[in-house]
Amino acid sequence: MISKKMTKALNEQIVHELYSSNAYIALAGYFDSLGLKAMSRRFFVQSDEEREHAMKFVNYLMDVGAPVAVGAIPESKSSYASVEAGVSAALEQEERVTAQINDLMALAHEEKDYATASFLQWFIDEQVEEIATVTELLQLVRLAGPDRILMVEERLMRMEGAPGSKPA
Ligand SMILES: [Fe+2]
Ligand SMILES: [Fe+2]
Repeated sequence: MISKKMTKALNEQIVHELYSSNAYIALAGYFDSLGLKAMSRRFFVQSDEEREHAMKFVNYLMDVGAPVAVGAIPESKSSYASVEAGVSAALEQEERVTAQINDLMALAHEEKDYATASFLQWFIDEQVEEIATVTELLQLVRLAGPDRILMVEERLMRMEGAPGSKPA
């Protein structure tokens, strides 16, 4: 059985992951409104992944016999000043989540809760990937610049079609 403090922290992470999921739906909608279909698709896929992350926490809590609680999910921003601002917001969100996961890992170690630490290791590794992927996208958007954003669309479409290409 895990501690009350850890249970509370893991339940809070469910909200953070669902917030990410919602934020990426909103971002996908924003990109679609600009006609950027590939950008939009990438963030819908990412949104599904974030929901899966939330469900990993739900399943872990159930596995260890701890209560699941889902708190209020803050509203997502649905409009941005530019494509770059939207992707920057996604990077900031991933940086926040990385810090949250690191805090959870620190708590697990503090409590000598090695089962939870082992569970969290997957998220530590996942965040490295997530930061890398969104940083790469932000670089592409900046390289292309606002006038040639369609080049980013073309690149993403090629990546979608390429076998073995990294998922969003
Ligand atoms: Fe996540
Ligand atoms: Fe993420």
